[in-house]
Amino acid sequence: MSSPLRLAIAGLGTVGIGVVKIIRQKAALLEARSGRKVQIVAVSARNRDKDRGVSLADYAWEDDPVVMATRDDVDVFVELMGGSDGPAKAATEAALKAGKDVVTANKALLAHHGQELAELAEEKGCVLRFEAAVAGGIPIIKSLTEGLAGNGIDRVMGVMNGTCNYILTRMEATGQGYNALFDEADKLGYLEADPNLDVGGIDAGHKLSLLSSIAFGTQVDFDSVELEGIQRVSIEDIRQAADMGYRIKLLGVARMTGRGLEQSMAPCLVPASSPLGQLEGGTNMVVVEGDQVGQVVLRGAGAGEGPTASAVMGDVMDIARGLRVTTFGQPASTLVKSTPAQAAAPAPYYLRMELMDKPGALAKIATALGEAGLSIHRMRQYDHADNSAPVLIVTHKTTRSALDDALARMATTGVISSEPVALRIEEV
Ligand code: NAP
Ligand code: HSE
Repeated sequence: MSSPLRLAIAGLGTVGIGVVKIIRQKAALLEARSGRKVQIVAVSARNRDKDRGVSLADYAWEDDPVVMATRDDVDVFVELMGGSDGPAKAATEAALKAGKDVVTANKALLAHHGQELAELAEEKGCVLRFEAAVAGGIPIIKSLTEGLAGNGIDRVMGVMNGTCNYILTRMEATGQGYNALFDEADKLGYLEADPNLDVGGIDAGHKLSLLSSIAFGTQVDFDSVELEGIQRVSIEDIRQAADMGYRIKLLGVARMTGRGLEQSMAPCLVPASSPLGQLEGGTNMVVVEGDQVGQVVLRGAGAGEGPTASAVMGDVMDIARGLRVTTFGQPASTLVKSTPAQAAAPAPYYLRMELMDKPGALAKIATALGEAGLSIHRMRQYDHADNSAPVLIVTHKTTRSALDDALARMATTGVISSEPVALRIEEV
């Protein structure tokens, strides 16, 4: 029997305590599967006196996670504190410099410092794993780096923020607006301490940037993710999209194009009948398209104690078994700096606008679209009581710049009574 694998866990909140529970409750299962005991030797958090519902008496307590990360009796440092900088970064660096393997659930840390940390890990002969950082319990990192390693990846898509999917699907189910459902999500404790990380698309953008790196062999480039949150998605658009057979999702899309790497996290329409369209509540889904395998769809819990701790343990078990995969699926020195695509690939767009209900108004809009080179695929003017006519248009595939040209031309027609809504339709 091999020697025990000795862990130090920094962060004893939702995820950290979930990991402690698995290690305490499933010791025999973990040992049977990895061939060695998995032990916690030390833990750290801010408040030593907090009742965490589980005994920590068997473990050494360290006030300073950086000190804990370098202990001689530790093999793996498990970083579950969060934050892109501060103690999470300092302790991760200290652990790697001291030759410890690191497991983290911290997408913010890796989205901002992934390249330098991966290089440091390799220089020191360590592994740095982060399964729990993307889509919670879904084993998407392992799928991309290992199971799909024989594929060129054409596109990675996903709904990777459960809070946003909860808000959007509850808007449709209840008919209530964004603000009411934001308050509901807040009461349920779904929102991050800084809610803009969720509803502003930042948390999901962090996750997408990590998937892009593995999928396309590029250095993590969060700053080039085109980000738009869900704050401006209206109940009217959710209703009208549904009526035309679509659902609105905060959708991440990454693909390598002839114009560079496209990474976008924004509200999009997807067909209601597609797996992404059917995703309800706080669940996550990641769709990978490989040139050999075709489309692979993974669905599961994107957050919470059990699912996230499950993902952390997947990484710990790999290390216990001696499986040592590079952070982003290839040596960090071979990851290339990507060129961000300046414009998204052509796509159909959904347009909703209020027109003055007078002769020739619709003709002016059709002319503006035509002059910008946009072709109308579907159009609908729905019932209205006053002299403002709600109009929906689905275009054929077009570029974003042609769409912007059309919107500018429409603004000069003098027949639009409110700013049009334009949402990309992702073909899935
Ligand atoms: P959490 O419940 O807020 O717990 C954070 C823990 O870190 C707490 O125990 C806290 O100590 C400790 N901590 C914070 N700052 C510290 C510092 N300066 N020094 C020492 N300890 C510190 O967070 P969480 O939800 O478990 O999330 C942990 C990580 O997992 C984050 O990176 C998060 O993004 C990621 N993640 C979470 C989920 C999820 O569902 N929660 C899902 C995927 C990924 P005290 O308890 O003493 O305050
Ligand atoms: N705030 C995140 C979400 C938690 O709602 O999905 C998991 O990263």
